[in-house]
Amino acid sequence: MSTPSSSSDQYPYPVSRIGIIGGGQLGRMLVKSARRLGCTCVVLDPTPGSPAGQVSGQQIVADSHDPQALRQLAEQVDVITFDIEDIDATILATLADAGHQILPSASLLAEIQDKLRQKQRLMALGIPTADFIEVDPDDAEQFERFGYPLVQKARRGGYDGRGVVVMRSAADRAQVLPVPSLIERFVPAAKELAVIVVRGQDGEVRSYEPVEMCFRSGANILDMLLAPARIPAATLAAARALAIETVTGLGGVGIFGIELFLTEAGELLVNEVAPRTHNSGHYTIEACITDQFEQHLRAITGLPLGATDQMIPAAMINLLGAPDESGPPVIRGLRAALAIPGVSLHFYGKASTRPFRKMGHVTVLDSDIESARHKAEQVRALIEIGSEVQ
Ligand SMILES: Nc1ncnc2c1ncn2[C@@H]1O[C@H](COP(=O)(O)OP(=O)(O)OP(=O)(O)O)[C@@H](O)[C@H]1O
Ligand SMILES: [Mg+2]
Repeated sequence: MSTPSSSSDQYPYPVSRIGIIGGGQLGRMLVKSARRLGCTCVVLDPTPGSPAGQVSGQQIVADSHDPQALRQLAEQVDVITFDIEDIDATILATLADAGHQILPSASLLAEIQDKLRQKQRLMALGIPTADFIEVDPDDAEQFERFGYPLVQKARRGGYDGRGVVVMRSAADRAQVLPVPSLIERFVPAAKELAVIVVRGQDGEVRSYEPVEMCFRSGANILDMLLAPARIPAATLAAARALAIETVTGLGGVGIFGIELFLTEAGELLVNEVAPRTHNSGHYTIEACITDQFEQHLRAITGLPLGATDQMIPAAMINLLGAPDESGPPVIRGLRAALAIPGVSLHFYGKASTRPFRKMGHVTVLDSDIESARHKAEQVRALIEIGSEVQ
C-alpha cells in the first residue's frame, strides 16, 4: 500500500505507482519526473518501445480503447493519468466505480474530449468563449445563417489543428469536415496565449505565467512559444485569473493547459482546455522552479504543489520532422545548435520520423526574451530532423 499515514509523513518506495495512458512525449517527460520523485510508471500505448515506455521500462502494448488492457493497467498502479484525450472514458468510469483512482476524473475527461460538451460546460460556468452552435456538416444553410467567417471544429478526435477548419466565406465550405461538429465565430486574435494551471486534490490551485503561442500560418502547429507572454502586466494577471477560474469551475485535479485568445479589442476568451500537461508548458522544465510534469504528479498523488515561479525568460520551438523525409531519424545541425548558450534539446526517441511529426523540442533560456527568441530562430534554422532512408 503506497498511501502514507497522514500523521507519519512516511512514504514507502515507490511513493506511488503511476499508470499513464498514452506513451508519447508528454508521457515520457512525466516518467522522467516521476522517477526523480520516487514514483514508478506503467505506460499503456499500442506502439512497442513508445517514447514513454522506453524510459519507464514497463509498458502494456495496447490501445487506449482496450477494456482488458485498461483494467490490467489499473490493477498494477495506484493512480491512472493520461497524456492523450482519445481514451474510452466509459471504461475509465467503470474502473473508477470499481475503486481505481483516475485523475483527472473520467467524467471530466468525457466532457472535455467532446469539444461541444466542453464549450457548453464553459458557457455554463460563465467562462467567456467564442459564440458557437452545434451543426449538421451537410446543412449549408445552418452555416450561412450563423455567418462567416467561422471555424468548424470536429467534436472528437482533433489534435494539432486536425479537426479544425477556418471558413472565411461560403466558398470555404468545400473543405467541410463530414463529422459531428460545432461551428464558432472566427476570433481575430492579436495573440494566442496559454496558461498552465495545476489544481490539487484539496482544491488548491496555482498557475504559471501566461505564455504566448505563435503558430505557423497554414499549419495549426505551434511554431514558437515565448514565456512569459509579451503583454501588459494587467493582461497577464487577467489571463491567469481566467485560467484559474476555468480549472476551479471544472473541478479538475492535475495539470491543465488553458488556451486563450487575446482579441484585438483586448478581450480574453478561452479557446480550449487540455486536461493534461501541455506543449506550451515544456519550457517549465528549465525555466520554472517546479516543472509542469512534477507538478502534475504532485497533484495526482496528493503531495503539496510546487512553486510555479519562472526564474528566467524562455523561448521554445518544436522540432518537427522535415517535409518529404520519412524513416529512422537523423538530427542535422545538432552540434551547431548546442553551441549556442542557453539551448536545451529534448529528443523524444521516436523510432521513425514523418513530415511535421513532433520529434522533439528545444528550449532556449536568456535573461532577455527577445534574445531568447532570436536564438530559438537560429536553432530552428540550424537543426533539422530528417531521415537518410527514403
Ligand atoms: N474561433 C477561432 N477563431 C480563430 N482561430 C481559431 C478559432 N478556433 C481555433 N482557431 C485556430 O486554430 C488553432 C487550433 O484550434 P484548437 O486549439 O481548437 O484545435 P486543436 O486541434 O485541438 O488544437 P491543438 O491540439 O493544436 O491544441 C488555434 O490555435 C487557432 O490558431
Ligand atoms: Mg489548441
